[in-house]
Amino acid sequence: MASSRDFLKAVENRRSIYQLTNKIPISDARVEEIAKHNILHVPSSFNSQSTRIVLLLNEEHEKFWEITKEVLKPQMPEEQFPQTEKKLDGFKAGHGTILFYEDPNPVKKLQSQFALYAQHFPGWATQSNAMAQYHLWTALEAEGCGANLQHYNPVVDSRVCTEWNVPQEWELKAQLVFGGVAEGAREAVEKNPKQQQPLEERLFIHGSKA
Ligand SMILES: Cc1cc2nc3c(=O)[nH]c(=O)nc-3n(C[C@H](O)[C@H](O)[C@H](O)COP(=O)(O)O)c2cc1C
Repeated sequence: MASSRDFLKAVENRRSIYQLTNKIPISDARVEEIAKHNILHVPSSFNSQSTRIVLLLNEEHEKFWEITKEVLKPQMPEEQFPQTEKKLDGFKAGHGTILFYEDPNPVKKLQSQFALYAQHFPGWATQSNAMAQYHLWTALEAEGCGANLQHYNPVVDSRVCTEWNVPQEWELKAQLVFGGVAEGAREAVEKNPKQQQPLEERLFIHGSKA
């Protein structure tokens, strides 16, 4: 079995990388393999498997960010749009966007099967979806890509459903943008320390025999 050190190192290295390029150090086939690994191995409550992933690569990824621009433009003050457009073009400069959805059907089914836990299933589905996001974010960075997490839902939802034939009832939760790491991008991020609040205010251990 691979050392847990590799896993912990990958967790440590994961950051929000915003300066991306469209050239990644792995093939699209490898990205697909990692997406399949995600769908097969990320856990869900009662094994409900409610997360859905739509992987947009190359021109399809670029199309997503063009659509985002189109839907946002009429919704914001004209003078603010150039700044937003610049930001969205930064995402478009990457190689791919991963859309994380939740299918409400498995959740509803569990709610009717297990009435006692009914109120918990939606929250658990969201937690499982977040695990899926974290899996791909960390795995892609471990492969030498850079990634950041965005939330342009729900403004893009209906256009995306039409464009990529996504069922209307699926709920878009997040978008993970990834690409090659532009020169200096990681160094810029590493200047921001991750640890902002004292560890002893956030971690409480009882009964350790260390
Ligand atoms: C649930 C969640 C939602 C986030 N949403 C956004 C977002 O909408 N836009 C963004 O740029 N970053 C977003 N982030 C990234 C965080 O701002 C970032 O992870 C945090 O500041 C720590 O920085 P790091 O990712 O470099 O370690 C999100 C992160 C999490 C976990």
